[in-house]
Amino acid sequence: MTTAESAGTQESTVDTLVSIQDLKVHFPIKRGVVLDRTVGYVYAVDGVTLEVKRGETYGLVGESGCGKTTLGRGLLRLVEPTSGHAWFEDVDLATLKGERLRKMRRRMQMVFQDPLSSLDPRQSVESILVEGMRAHDLDKSKESTRRRLLELLDAVGLPSTSLRKYPHEFSGGQRQRIGIARALTVEPDLIVADEPVSALDVSVQAQVINLLEDLQNEFGLTYLVIAHDLAVVRHISDRVGVMYLGGLVEEATSDALYAEPLHPYTRALLSAVPVPDPEVEDARERILLAGDLPSPANPPTGCRFHTRCPWKQEELCDTDRPELREFRPGHRVACHYAEDILAGRIQPHEVRAELVEEHGISPDMPLVGPASVTEVLE
Ligand SMILES: Nc1ncnc2c1ncn2[C@@H]1O[C@H](COP(=O)(O)OP(=O)(O)OP(=O)(O)O)[C@@H](O)[C@H]1O
Ligand code: SF4
Ligand SMILES: [Mg+2]
Repeated sequence: MTTAESAGTQESTVDTLVSIQDLKVHFPIKRGVVLDRTVGYVYAVDGVTLEVKRGETYGLVGESGCGKTTLGRGLLRLVEPTSGHAWFEDVDLATLKGERLRKMRRRMQMVFQDPLSSLDPRQSVESILVEGMRAHDLDKSKESTRRRLLELLDAVGLPSTSLRKYPHEFSGGQRQRIGIARALTVEPDLIVADEPVSALDVSVQAQVINLLEDLQNEFGLTYLVIAHDLAVVRHISDRVGVMYLGGLVEEATSDALYAEPLHPYTRALLSAVPVPDPEVEDARERILLAGDLPSPANPPTGCRFHTRCPWKQEELCDTDRPELREFRPGHRVACHYAEDILAGRIQPHEVRAELVEEHGISPDMPLVGPASVTEVLE
């Protein structure tokens, strides 16, 4: 830990809006109804360090269950991090409580994947939009609030008549526009958009992505966009972070990541994205990953990707966890052999899927379901 970290300050430059340092969110797995013993942990986020610069869009990608949503929620303190830090400007969010935390939340809003379940069906659009303004004392007078709501509806491309309607009267894409307008009512600096288009028809996805881009320019917003779809992230992001089993394995500008992915996992993810040009499509390298994503309750030792990595080596891979290191300016990777893989000095080999046992938790043990898996601060 650096002196600055131990003093609870950060060394980031002024254009950094968010700085996350070694953030961990571990969920205890409880067993037994009466004794409620902790029998293990889900290492949902396990040591993530990244920065989001003011005005940029940072895209976070990775397979289902790798911890993307938990990282977003940990940043906004919607779940208590187990350890590590997250700063917003120069404020260590872990130090905020009560009113100060509530005030800070105005500046960091979340847009959710499923607009239908995140909008109360019994509330009209007007009441959904006014709620946040009221909570943050931005609802000064009837006229100014109405003016503001109409401006926002216009900005997200909905007619003024929408105010009197209810969520079920809108299409999926329109509902997501309401969700975005709701986030904007409190004039945030940062929007964490968690899979903002994955519940929408493909034809509508591009419209909502374009809307997010327009709003970013209009309101000077900073985005952390979470998606499992690389195409979505590529289009919208300035920089991209790739997550695997609770950790970042690669980070670069969107262009650099797509032009020359360094981590075997990123290479595999990108090799699965179809290319429109048939000649390029036929010639391109495809890397099929063997086996399923291991459980985050029992992550593999060493490099978490070693059970599926076609470049895995005898040394280091299954014993030492690679650090996310700067490979070249602005491009970080967590692989011991990134240089050798890039230079072609080591070649991919076949991977046999390994069965990962759940250590200490036998399949017939009665585990308490997610509802009672409490989120704790260790
Ligand atoms: N409240 C919770 N209690 C216990 N485990 C949880 C909780 N929330 C998430 N998890 C577990 O943490 C891991 C990471 O989940 P998370 O939702 O962050 O992944 P994700 O990358 O967002 O996945 P998806 O793409 O499916 O949304 C998963 O194994 C999940 O089951
Ligand atoms: S450290 Fe080893 S197992 Fe991990 S990605 Fe690199 S080569 Fe593969
Ligand atoms: Mg998620």
